[in-house]
Amino acid sequence: MEKVMLTGDRPTGRLHLGHYVGSLKNRVQLQNSGEFDQVFIMIADQQALTDNADNPQKIRDHVAEVAMDYLAVGVDPSKATVFLQSDIPEIAELNMYFQNLVTVSRVQRNPTVKAEIQQKGFGESVPVGFFVYSISQAADILAFRGTHVPAGEDQKPLIEQANEIVATFGRYYDPNLFQPIELVLPPKGMERLVGIDGRGKMSKSLNNGIYLADDEDIIQKKVMKMYTDPNHINVADPGQVEGNVVFTYLDIFCPDKELVASLKAQYQAGGLGDVKLKRLLNDVLQEELRPIRQRRLEFAKDPAQVMKMLEEGGRRARQTAAVTLSQAKTSMGINYFNR
Ligand code: TRP
Repeated sequence: MEKVMLTGDRPTGRLHLGHYVGSLKNRVQLQNSGEFDQVFIMIADQQALTDNADNPQKIRDHVAEVAMDYLAVGVDPSKATVFLQSDIPEIAELNMYFQNLVTVSRVQRNPTVKAEIQQKGFGESVPVGFFVYSISQAADILAFRGTHVPAGEDQKPLIEQANEIVATFGRYYDPNLFQPIELVLPPKGMERLVGIDGRGKMSKSLNNGIYLADDEDIIQKKVMKMYTDPNHINVADPGQVEGNVVFTYLDIFCPDKELVASLKAQYQAGGLGDVKLKRLLNDVLQEELRPIRQRRLEFAKDPAQVMKMLEEGGRRARQTAAVTLSQAKTSMGINYFNR
């Protein structure tokens, strides 16, 4: 059986450190592992429009930005087909057939979508396209006969629902066309990086992120603002390590685990100041992000070239999706002209 990896992001903003540890890093490793026959990475601009219909400019502005973030972290167009969802009409057509396999009550109780509807305060005024994006996401994956989706825990309900579509399609039409999809979670502890304010996971809406495109000064300023232990006022005071964002980040990013352990002991005993710790974290993060930023700056010099990469990826992706769509129609017995 072919192993096909597919994943994607909504282009509603630049990618940050949370995306990096929770998904991008893992994705690049999988891309380079040689484990997959094909790798697809999709910029989900249509899904992004489902709750931004009044502001397509926001989506348009971030397409190349996200593509540059990909390239900067090591997504390699010679190994991965990177493309735009809106460039592949076959996905939308497959989505239409899938919509007949899913009930309103099923989409309504998808926990991820339900939580988003609540978060965004949509209530009954949820756009239909948003309400049913779980079905279109199944089409995103299955148009390429994806078997493995590296993504966060939050995507689990979407993969579950996609697998129900696989099963129903199998029962109604053809059990062999689509295979069950496996969610590939990030390594333990990397699932949801806390934001620099310690209030929740890093996200654009909470304005608590460190972005892959941030320059050295901005990174340093953000590190210096980071949430630590509010009761650790004097250097000599004993401090809390749990919930202390600086330690959370050191645990993830500092390669010297022994050093981190001894700093924790010192901090808890008292006598280690926040500024000293933050300087260390700043060095560690700068080290990690510098090569990414430098690569990103190179790609940013030539956005037309980046768009060309997406265009070329779209051409290849479309060939695959067209074959799947044709086969799906054949399975359904509606491929009247065998196209
Ligand atoms: N829902 C994903 C997100 O919000 C984006 C996405 C769209 C996706 N289509 C996909 C992820 C297919 C994995 C596979 O981040």
